[in-house]
Amino acid sequence: MGDNDLGDTATTRSVVITGGAVGLGRAMAQRFHALGHQVLVCSRTQRELDALAAELPGTKVLRADVSLDTDRRALVAAAGEFGADVWINNAAIVRAHDYRSSFTLDNDRARDELEINFAAPLELIRLFLQHRRTAGIEGAPATIVNVNTPGALFPLEANLLYCATKAGLHLFTEALRRQLAGTQVGVVEIFPPSLDTRLARDLEVVGQSDNGDQVIREVGDACVEGILAGTKVVLPHPAAAMMYEMFANTFEDEFIDQINASVQRRPGWDAEG
Ligand SMILES: NC(=O)c1ccc[n+]([C@@H]2O[C@H](COP(=O)([O-])OP(=O)(O)OC[C@H]3O[C@@H](n4cnc5c(N)ncnc54)[C@H](OP(=O)(O)O)[C@@H]3O)[C@@H](O)[C@H]2O)c1
Repeated sequence: MGDNDLGDTATTRSVVITGGAVGLGRAMAQRFHALGHQVLVCSRTQRELDALAAELPGTKVLRADVSLDTDRRALVAAAGEFGADVWINNAAIVRAHDYRSSFTLDNDRARDELEINFAAPLELIRLFLQHRRTAGIEGAPATIVNVNTPGALFPLEANLLYCATKAGLHLFTEALRRQLAGTQVGVVEIFPPSLDTRLARDLEVVGQSDNGDQVIREVGDACVEGILAGTKVVLPHPAAAMMYEMFANTFEDEFIDQINASVQRRPGWDAEG
């Protein structure tokens, strides 16, 4: 039994995967599809979306850039019509940056990294929850999934913006889980291992993993299993589990409860705009 029980595992889910046309997102799409669930995938490359739609009949695809507000709203609207009850923030990019050189946020895709990896999941979650309230389906079970990386848990020097965006996403995910406790929305975080995907090749760092398609598929399968079980923290590979054990904070929940109890909203906070 997981932490957020989506209900019986035989029920068909409607799953949105950002950046699901290739890599780990594609592997999850393949697995959800094989299990008979409905899948809606977005990315920026129509050719790859078309290939996925041909490979997985019935899968919906939408060309959308999650860093753009108009595209995010179009994606959430499409997800609403689709009846989405599992939302997976998977899209991410990575680059190497050097603060001793003259790069700026606007060259070298640095700002894109902040927008795609950090701002986009936060905003998509807000819009997804807002849609559920507007549609009057707050009482229906749903799961929000953020795909993270063990690199969120320790300083990753060459890819420091990637590391920072994912570290921010990690704490946001943990805080969101606390805020949504007691609602019908469960929050899942996934820590994949190093995989030989396009993203890994963009790391611009030597010595990265060269594990192939078979491992990506197995990790995708394990991610889907964890999501459907409502496991809070999905560690789909022993290497990722080992890093999580080494680097994740180990504070007792009760200690965090005490701190949070002392940090409350002031009365009338919502009226101040
Ligand atoms: N690979 C690893 O070693 C590794 C390890 C740990 C965690 N992860 C995490 O796993 C997730 C998936 O990574 P991956 O390795 O599968 O990467 P990938 O193969 O590069 O796939 C990333 C997907 O995201 C899409 N994407 C990127 N920017 C987007 C945007 N602005 N809007 C919409 N879609 C966008 C890409 O398509 P377009 O470029 O066509 O938009 C692509 O479909 C990421 O969150 C990553 O941080 C990966």
